[in-house]
Amino acid sequence: MTARPGMHTLTAGRGLLFGGDYNPEQWPEEVWAQDAELMRAAGVNLVTVGVFSWARLEPEPDVRDFTWLDRVLDLMGENGVAVDLATPTASPPPWLGHRWPQTLPVDESGHRLWYGSRNQFCPSSPVYRERALSIVSALASRYASHPALALWHVGNEYGQVCHCDESAAAFRAWLRERYGDLGTLNEAWGTTFWSQRYDDWAEIVPPRLAPYIVNPSQRLDWRRFCSDALLEHYRAERDILREHTPGTPVTTNFMGLFKPVDYWSWAAEEDVVSNDWYPEPGDPLAPARTALTHDLMRGLAGGRPWLLMEQATSAVNWRPHNLPKPPGQFRLESLQALARGADGLCYFQWRASRFGAERFHAAMVPHAGQDTRLHAAVRAHGRELRGLASVAGTPVPARVAMVFDWASWWALEERGRPSDRLNATDQLLSYYLPLWERGVSVDVVPPSADLSGYALVVVPNLFLVGDRDAAALTAYARGGGVLVVGPFSGVVDERSHVRTGRFPAPLREVLGASGEEWLPAPDDVPVRCRWAGGAAFTAHTWTELVAAEGAEAVAEFAGGDLAGSPAVLRHPAGAGPGSGSAWYVATMPEPAALGEIIARALADAGVAGALPGLPPGVEAVRRGDVLFLLNHGAESAVVPITEQAEDLLTGAVADGEVTLAPRDVVALRPHAE
Ligand code: GLA
Ligand code: GLA
Repeated sequence: MTARPGMHTLTAGRGLLFGGDYNPEQWPEEVWAQDAELMRAAGVNLVTVGVFSWARLEPEPDVRDFTWLDRVLDLMGENGVAVDLATPTASPPPWLGHRWPQTLPVDESGHRLWYGSRNQFCPSSPVYRERALSIVSALASRYASHPALALWHVGNEYGQVCHCDESAAAFRAWLRERYGDLGTLNEAWGTTFWSQRYDDWAEIVPPRLAPYIVNPSQRLDWRRFCSDALLEHYRAERDILREHTPGTPVTTNFMGLFKPVDYWSWAAEEDVVSNDWYPEPGDPLAPARTALTHDLMRGLAGGRPWLLMEQATSAVNWRPHNLPKPPGQFRLESLQALARGADGLCYFQWRASRFGAERFHAAMVPHAGQDTRLHAAVRAHGRELRGLASVAGTPVPARVAMVFDWASWWALEERGRPSDRLNATDQLLSYYLPLWERGVSVDVVPPSADLSGYALVVVPNLFLVGDRDAAALTAYARGGGVLVVGPFSGVVDERSHVRTGRFPAPLREVLGASGEEWLPAPDDVPVRCRWAGGAAFTAHTWTELVAAEGAEAVAEFAGGDLAGSPAVLRHPAGAGPGSGSAWYVATMPEPAALGEIIARALADAGVAGALPGLPPGVEAVRRGDVLFLLNHGAESAVVPITEQAEDLLTGAVADGEVTLAPRDVVALRPHAE
């Protein structure tokens, strides 16, 4: 098998990628020439074109006009701007829904959603599929040998869900494939509960609006199906593109921790992993949340570089109250992505729209034009990225892995659970935070990942775990790894059936812990806890009645019904020296206490952060031989450094310490003697 093209195909000869979504169809052609000139001046070398251009390319069924797009690609090519050419299938023209209403999606209450916005298609509609693949084939054959074509962008932000009858039929086919016969399906869905037994495949429907809580196993399979149905459509488009241009990489843009789509299964089908990411300027946790998302993208890319496909230069338009980014903020965020493995830093969008739903979304060229502080900052950033070309392709080494799984996320957050306060992504972030604060690099990985290269594996929550994955986690800790498992893990199997017996059933032995009750705590009443040494801390929201069964109680509950019962357990998991340890956290500790647990686990694992003595708000991450320091805080920060190094951004030589103003970044490469 020949190696697939990837990010390296794009960065070769170009260095880091810089650019954005370009929608010239919204502008008269005189503006295009100006765009090209401005792009050149800003160092733009990649634009995404055609994402929402289906109606312009095919104004009536089978009547197509590519001539304008020819001119756009020619213009980009002449100006040295590579094109990420999108298939236009995220927003079908009104004629599709008008003539074939069955292509329009249906929500869970049976209402059809209309055109007039975007994303209005049923992933399982044969007519949509046929029409989409037809325009994709035409696009692929027309531009296969265009010199500006560098990357294919399939659809946009896949996440559509449809509950129509065609989706129901596709769901049944998917279920037949998974279960073979109805008896197995009835067992998997536990349909003896509430008289839900299915006697005929035709009775099975998507989980539509129902009088009361819907079967959680049915809903879990529905989520799996929805992700797979979209993936099947993506693959059909991708295969056409690959057939025409085997050497051109293919991507589709992700949305971080986006619930409807299992990105682990999608990433394997892409040549380049790309993400759209819009941190909320008012969110104090945004820097850590963003770092986590970037680490997820690197994980999805198998450790290889990825592409930040879309971010905003300032405010978005789709939150209720859209805070702008202060000067320096988008640069800081771009460089954060670079530090965490992105080889391309792109934006939505090049020129701000005058009309349409996104006319108040920031862009690289704002409504006020190019003679603006914002566009000046865009140019300056493009320039400085050219000086960082040597970072492209380099890895972000990590000795810590954090396990995250979509199926477990889906299964956990169903109705009818002990508490809706315990959520998968909140748990993930709370365990990530202390690692981020300490400058410890983390790979986000699926439960099926090969864990053998990691010194520490953190499992913030794995509500659903299969036998094989539980065995792998056990073997990891027995083999010398350090494992940290958060509360309410190991609860259900792949069918979302509770694993009976003392918990966390499949991880009980390795954790040396043995639980019998999950006990959510009242809101706003701190859970009092105590370290084995005597010092107090608090937890919140969640407790468990767990006995030590081989583990030591590192901390115990210090009040109420659970007083004296273990809250945090540590089990020497292997035999003899050099063996690992396994930690179980049976509550939700306050951030400082969780930080202490993580610090002790890091000590068990012998892992240190990128730099000792990091001031709060300063992020430190090593990529290749470059140490990135990013000041997310509101104050200037002085960071001690151990070696003489050159800042790739300014050329200054740093020795002993560096001072970072708010939103400042340094990229330190050890100084050659
Ligand atoms: C009601 C119903 C039961 C069960 C319980 C759970 O009483 O009659 O079937 O659902 O609620 O609290
Ligand atoms: C997403 C989409 C874009 C645009 C931006 C606005 O990332 O892909 O088309 O809608 O959001 O933030």
